[in-house]
Amino acid sequence: AMLDEKPKPLAGRRIIVTSGPTHEPIDPVRYIANRSSGKQGHAIAAALAKLGADVRLVSGPVTIADPAGVATIHVETAAQMKQAVESLLPADAAVFVAAVADWRTANAAGEKIKKVAGEGPPSLQMVENPDILAGIGHHAQRPGLVVGFAAETQDLIANAEAKLKKKGADFIVANDVSHESGIGPSGVMGGDRNKVRIVSRTGVEEWPEMGKDEVAVRLAALIAERLRQTVV
Ligand code: CTP
Ligand code: CA
Repeated sequence: AMLDEKPKPLAGRRIIVTSGPTHEPIDPVRYIANRSSGKQGHAIAAALAKLGADVRLVSGPVTIADPAGVATIHVETAAQMKQAVESLLPADAAVFVAAVADWRTANAAGEKIKKVAGEGPPSLQMVENPDILAGIGHHAQRPGLVVGFAAETQDLIANAEAKLKKKGADFIVANDVSHESGIGPSGVMGGDRNKVRIVSRTGVEEWPEMGKDEVAVRLAALIAERLRQTVV
């Protein structure tokens, strides 16, 4: 019993995590979204909570359950996700795992768009969504540690390094979603395994392929190690 009572490494730390996709409405029944199961983000939230952190998860629409011991806010769109994340500041760290839709329709239709004989498909006018990670990375109340993800099909490291700088992150967790490694039950998106590289200002660390739960445990340990040097 005494051993269980030793302080957990992330006790007293507030950590924001985003997970899942966002859904950007076209009309009341249709939307645009990225592929994302939420498995990796939810696993990271759970792993941080296990180390004692006060985790605030902001999740887009997913079919998996809220992680145990994690206060979860459910959102649909990127705009809602951004607002939820900002409402949770200040925080000690923030981890952006969500696959945020890069664009939304300029104005979603209030009624279902009907097919009209002879008219052909509607043309959707798109506008860019705000970058939630970049907003927090450059925020006046920036958390001491900011972690992003990057899913790439080519030039993995160069793209991850560019995102690190542009978004004001401390780490980018980069994964290759090209060809057969990307999609479906055995791929990164939807599957249970992941192969990542940790890109920071000091270099690139390659992790072997492992389960998403194991990536989460290792990332939580890395975050705890980084925060250990700062005072609660
Ligand atoms: N991200 C975000 N808000 C957005 C887009 C991305 O917070 N509107 C975050 C993601 O959660 C991830 C990181 O930024 O942590 C990188 O996302 P990614 O889609 O790889 O980068 P983009 O900047 O959108 O570039 P692109 O999709 O063109 O590769
Ligand atoms: Ca994107």
